[in-house]
Amino acid sequence: MSSVSDWDVPNPVKENRSGLIGKGVDRYEGPLKVTGTAPYAYEVQPPSPPAYGVMVGATIAAGRITDVDTAAAEASPGVLAVWTHRNVPAQPPRGTKAHPRSTAGSKPALESDRVTYWGQPVAFVVADTLENAVAASHMVQLTYAADAPDVDFQARLGDAVDPPGEKDVEVGDFQAGFEGSPVRLDETWSTPIQNHVQMEPCASLAWWEGPDRCIAHTSVQMVKPAQHGLAETLGIDRDAVHLMTRYIGGGFGGKGQTYDDLTLAALAARALGRPVKVAFTRQQMMHGTIHRPATVMRVRLGAERDGRLNAMSIMTWTHCHSDGSFTEHASNFARSLYAAPNRLTGHRLVRLDLPHAGPMRAPGEASGTLSLECAMDELAETLGLDPVELRIRNEPEVDPENGRPFSQRQLVRCLKEGAQLFGWDRRLPTPGQVRDGRWLVGLGMAAAIRGNFLLPAKCSFSVDADGVITVRQGMTDIGTGTYTVLAQIAAETLGVPLGQVVVEIGDSELPPAPGSGGQFGAATAGSAALAAGVNLRKAIADLAVNDPGSPLHGGDSASVTFQDGVVALENRSETLRDLVRRAAPAGLTVEGEIRPAQDAQRWSTQTYGAHFCEVGVDPVTGEVRVRRMLGVFAAGRILNAKTARSQLTGGMIWGVASALTEGNAVDPRYGSLINQDLAQYLVPVQADIGDLEAIMLDEVDDKANPMGIKGVGELGNSGAGAAVANAVYNACGVRLRDYPITPDKLLAGLIAAGR
Ligand code: MOS
Repeated sequence: MSSVSDWDVPNPVKENRSGLIGKGVDRYEGPLKVTGTAPYAYEVQPPSPPAYGVMVGATIAAGRITDVDTAAAEASPGVLAVWTHRNVPAQPPRGTKAHPRSTAGSKPALESDRVTYWGQPVAFVVADTLENAVAASHMVQLTYAADAPDVDFQARLGDAVDPPGEKDVEVGDFQAGFEGSPVRLDETWSTPIQNHVQMEPCASLAWWEGPDRCIAHTSVQMVKPAQHGLAETLGIDRDAVHLMTRYIGGGFGGKGQTYDDLTLAALAARALGRPVKVAFTRQQMMHGTIHRPATVMRVRLGAERDGRLNAMSIMTWTHCHSDGSFTEHASNFARSLYAAPNRLTGHRLVRLDLPHAGPMRAPGEASGTLSLECAMDELAETLGLDPVELRIRNEPEVDPENGRPFSQRQLVRCLKEGAQLFGWDRRLPTPGQVRDGRWLVGLGMAAAIRGNFLLPAKCSFSVDADGVITVRQGMTDIGTGTYTVLAQIAAETLGVPLGQVVVEIGDSELPPAPGSGGQFGAATAGSAALAAGVNLRKAIADLAVNDPGSPLHGGDSASVTFQDGVVALENRSETLRDLVRRAAPAGLTVEGEIRPAQDAQRWSTQTYGAHFCEVGVDPVTGEVRVRRMLGVFAAGRILNAKTARSQLTGGMIWGVASALTEGNAVDPRYGSLINQDLAQYLVPVQADIGDLEAIMLDEVDDKANPMGIKGVGELGNSGAGAAVANAVYNACGVRLRDYPITPDKLLAGLIAAGR
């Protein structure tokens, strides 16, 4: 175990002699992706021609399969197998962990006649071509005994229960503080179900080497749980599954776990003795994988007339699958955002016959800020205060929930610099005052916060006889820039050009790392890489001073420097390549490891930001256009200005979607999601976004990890939608608390307001 003080030693990333750390270098794998030659899981070339599997989804949300007729499908051209719960190969019961240290239990596919959500995979067809498999999948006849689906979240709010093992968190006396406040707000917001809609749907390819070893390519954010879960499902040893996820077309939390595509591909490959590919369709992704559940959030704020909060509460109602307990923790972020002596936060859960709820980018914050950060806007208006000033007046000295000091907190700087850069002082506090042709123009802002995490991870670094550094780690790159930042850390640490670094990730046989999620990826994987890099430096320095053939021979290994592919000691030097080729022709490999510091819990460690947005509202059509958006963020040292900016602006665009367009509507008759494709599930495209900029403050958070970096993958999403909603209000004077703010709702609001 290391402690934070152990981390506070000189290290190459901090020295940054190459200047590569922080630089916006191009993506390591960019050329492969833009030329279409990065093989995603479904595109990997298997050793022999694959068969194609297609899943069939249930057309009821609750009930049982009472009869199965697969005769027509089996007789269809090219069909190799048709499976339902009646004939799928045996799998251990759900959750089985034959190996005590498995990070995931078995996840049997087609496990029984029980249907618990619409679209649940209930049959599976394999054929020689995709077309034959699709054709036969339509011939599978299933008869159901359906129960009336229990899917009406709003109607079931009264039945909500405490999430398992969770209690409300109260500090002080919320009710007394609220009632004793001269200015009070008590409003309720709601958000719909959202889906990840990654560009690459979940997909898998599997084959077997002999009867005992399964090779699987899949699209997943976490390698080890995927490997372990598949091994448990197949009933084989963990090491008998070689799982790879080299390129991933978006994850966002939706690929934090595996699905039946992986299980069925592996089972079918074993049964048929040939490689099998299975992919979800876009429509199947909506139901067959997880989604962000809908929320209802009640926010209460009690303030003095000068804006200081006496009391704040956010209570969240949300839903999950009938067998589940996932909770959208939309209230949690409020625990450290603003000072208020009396505080109440908590969650209530309703179990429904809907697909599985789960984490989606900035789980908690993305939904939660859509209420609280609009409530702050409303309170500012009531008080006659600028919304930026209201937030500054409620800036806490220490974490208001637990009293811990902040490791770094530059929220006020984000607010002030953002306000200045954006021209916030031009905002007119009274809505509906600014016109530009047919558009009513308004400005809005919101704060952003997202936690920061560090998990245990390992990494190995090798140098070969060509002086090439190879980074190996069971990490993933879901589009975030992992490949690139690992290459930068390696290049800086060993003093070699970027072109002399190879990065191998996304493989269960590489040193384990937790993967991509919770915006912990770069900090966790990068810190382990730094440790491996420092260890390889030591090994190379020792090699040099102990090798009689080296000009560095006999020197002090601690004084060896690494730069431009050259190892040097005072005025003596040779190239890394020459040294390794002569003294260690087989190369050197070392490992590094990071663990959270023992004293990490002494600090409240978060990332912060401030969003500013200008929208135009067409009062005739109710259309909203985002004209300008600026985010200013404080998230520790930035490893790569380009990939970090891309993460942040991507999150901001997602906020625009949450505010204006995104959401799945539930069909109460069937328990299905009505909009199942990208024609009906609306996410912004290029033309929907005006000027967009993300600025990252200089910051080093030494309490976060040895590199002083934090994550940005989710921060940009937090608060972004609230800034849009607040701008809509400033433009036209309509407050909508039921997201998304679609033209129909806005027009109704404009009419009700007499505008
Ligand atoms: Mo995430 S939503 O923790 O991948």
